[in-house]
Amino acid sequence: MLIKKKSPLSDNDVTPRQHYDNSRALISASRRSFLTRSSTAMLAAGLAPSTLWAGDKIADYLASESALKSELTPYEYVTTYNNFYEFGTAKGDPVVRAHTLKTKPWSVSIEGEVEKPGVYDLEDILKRQQLEERIYRLRCVEAWSMVVPWIGFPLASLIKQLKPTSKAKYIEFTTLYDPEQMPGQRSGSLKWPYVEGLRMDEAMNPLSLMATGLYGEMMPKQNGAPLRLVVPWKYGFKSIKSIVKIRFSETMPATSWNQAASGEYGFYANVNPQVPHPRWSQRRERVIGASLFSPKRNTELFNGYADEVAYLYKGMNLKTFF
Ligand code: MTE
Repeated sequence: MLIKKKSPLSDNDVTPRQHYDNSRALISASRRSFLTRSSTAMLAAGLAPSTLWAGDKIADYLASESALKSELTPYEYVTTYNNFYEFGTAKGDPVVRAHTLKTKPWSVSIEGEVEKPGVYDLEDILKRQQLEERIYRLRCVEAWSMVVPWIGFPLASLIKQLKPTSKAKYIEFTTLYDPEQMPGQRSGSLKWPYVEGLRMDEAMNPLSLMATGLYGEMMPKQNGAPLRLVVPWKYGFKSIKSIVKIRFSETMPATSWNQAASGEYGFYANVNPQVPHPRWSQRRERVIGASLFSPKRNTELFNGYADEVAYLYKGMNLKTFF
């Protein structure tokens, strides 16, 4: 498994899915590591004090994580109700079709405004990261949500090691392009390969996660194995799967959904109940796995992570920069 021995999570800590709800070991390991690194990693990254998380922000995050634990979406839903257009546009396509994806060996090309460009084996990248668990709500622009226990490492930690130059204002991610392995790329449902991006300060926020697994297991192919992004305060389409390229740039990347329909999908794509999409009001969300008769959930600004991320958008009109 991709979960390293050196990590605060040893293989013994990784809870078998059927015992998941009974275990506290994994969660406490993640809390310890989160608390330790939230300050040291960011200081080492040379972030300005205003972007550091103060102790109360860490406490906020831990409280929200703890509350979310009772809302975990069952594994069966997380791994069968998917958006991964490279394997088809129906929610049930990826789980039956993604077996054609070869996830080993896997390399990631690092390009652009960075001191350490190159093609890196994923195994080598992971040797230098500490994996931890993060329980996040995933809110799709299609007005549904799930709560997923991801395994991964902070994107900020990787960025710090790669040393972007002072010109790097954005970070762009690209999914594998190989229609043999990803038959959905033979259709014109999107312009391939799938591309997403973040502003550098968004990428450096401690919530931005590079995920390699979920529910204590390696990432299932349909969920974006072997390496995907998770940005919990943004609509799910920002959380790009099966990443093979990371490029640092001075200019805003052209992202897939924004190119497909710029009036519907903005670059920022922050979850916001006040900014409707032409087809989804965004005020409420259907909770995947809940009973058909359950009421919808009220969508929260920044998907409930406002305390941690609102500073990133100070002074910005969120209706204009949607
Ligand atoms: N990444 C790629 N490469 N291709 C995709 O079609 N779909 C996005 C995102 N990442 C997508 C992608 C969308 S719309 C969502 S909601 C999430 O993945 C879904 O992640 P999940 O299937 O793990 O729930």
